Amino acid sequence: MNALQRDLKRIVPLVEGLGAAKAAADPHRQRYHIQPPVGWLNDPNGLCKVGDTYHVFYQYSPLNPAGGVKMWGHVTSTDLLHWQQHPVMLYPDEPFDCHGAYSGSALYEDGRLWLFYTGNIKLPGDYDHIRTGRENNLCLATSRDCMQIDTKECLMHNRDYPAGLSCHVRDPKVWAQDGRYYLVLGARTLEDKGEVVILQSEDRYHWQLCNILTTAEPFGYMWECPDLFQLDGQWYLPVSPQGIPCQNKYGCGYFPVEGDWKGACTLGDYRPMDHGFDYYAPQSFLDGARRLQFGWMAMPDADYTCPTADYGWQNCLTVPRELTRDADGVLCQNPARELQTLRGEARALEAGSTATVDPCFELEAHPKGDFRLVFAGGLELCCRQRSVELRFTDDALGSGRDRRTVELDAPCREIRVLGDCSSLEIFLNGGRYTLTTRYFPAPGPVSLTLENTNATLWPLEGTNR
Ligand code: FRU
Repeated sequence: MNALQRDLKRIVPLVEGLGAAKAAADPHRQRYHIQPPVGWLNDPNGLCKVGDTYHVFYQYSPLNPAGGVKMWGHVTSTDLLHWQQHPVMLYPDEPFDCHGAYSGSALYEDGRLWLFYTGNIKLPGDYDHIRTGRENNLCLATSRDCMQIDTKECLMHNRDYPAGLSCHVRDPKVWAQDGRYYLVLGARTLEDKGEVVILQSEDRYHWQLCNILTTAEPFGYMWECPDLFQLDGQWYLPVSPQGIPCQNKYGCGYFPVEGDWKGACTLGDYRPMDHGFDYYAPQSFLDGARRLQFGWMAMPDADYTCPTADYGWQNCLTVPRELTRDADGVLCQNPARELQTLRGEARALEAGSTATVDPCFELEAHPKGDFRLVFAGGLELCCRQRSVELRFTDDALGSGRDRRTVELDAPCREIRVLGDCSSLEIFLNGGRYTLTTRYFPAPGPVSLTLENTNATLWPLEGTNR
């Protein structure tokens, strides 16, 4: 252990201890979502299950709720509901990662956790930090007990990546397949085109180029946080593209891969993963036969805010979502079924009524035509024919968020909503469409108005201590 790591290991718990009471006093503190003890959280990292234990890591800046140098925060759970905080797993404490242990992923094999991540370096000087002055290194850390790092090394520098790329090449997502290892990296070319680099390895240490996936025409300048997986025989490439026309500052969606991703293939039509304000950089992992995905419930560089920063913390992950493939190849997202065990006694809500409900709730409705739901008196979910609109009519409630829309391919016949103290996750038509947003209601119960649809409502038990 080097001196920097020794000091960081002492400083971070002190900072967490100092900020804990203030964060806990925030009425917008979430009750069943993964959130940082203090400071800033972004992307989910290193998702895996080891024995009976789920490990979720996340981009974490404990020293600054507005975001600072990134390390890997760590929580575990055996039920996907109750999450236990652990000491930081990865510190930015080596010359190859000292300006951030950036996003990455995990393998558990041979009694060890293998964490692949990006070591970020920003050289001081007159650089643009895109084509020059920046290092995005491919790094590997290993751990036998899944709590402490045993080894840490840099496997590849920018000069080892394929020619034609800018310095932005990051966020390795690794998996094992047919006796080999593969990983995808998100990249920005020197021509400002987003693409995904696929590397392959026999031994997890030495990596060669396998393929490059991109669109024929440029689709944004950078693709962050790629994933690549098969679901019911179809391969999907989720990415978070920057520089595409979309409702949010950046995109978050997926391409079906047509053909063999190791060789000749094309990317099919891009489909957004979410239509709300706050969904970015999702990652998935296999849990037995099912694939679970967590997203970051925020949007980088957005012009709306998260007022919890006043309480010294900011951002959270979504609930774990189970991914399934619809008959026509659409990826559907639904809350992991474990969440249903948080349900209290069901309550029937009538069309035309306003109820007062605990902010932690689940709602399910099966509208027969157009409908409107109003959350906390200032956030409307309206559906007219196939057009769905999520609109804040109360500025404070949305903290700068205004409206988002989505055209469905069929009338909306099913709504599920998961509410926590400062978020709503909305799932429409079996999870073919989701709208995810933070919101900031006044402390205490929230009002729920239903127009033109009945609903069932369950209070949800909080699980965060
Ligand atoms: C996405 C991202 C990643 C990067 C990480 C740094 O939100 O920009 O590309 O690895 O965040 O925190």
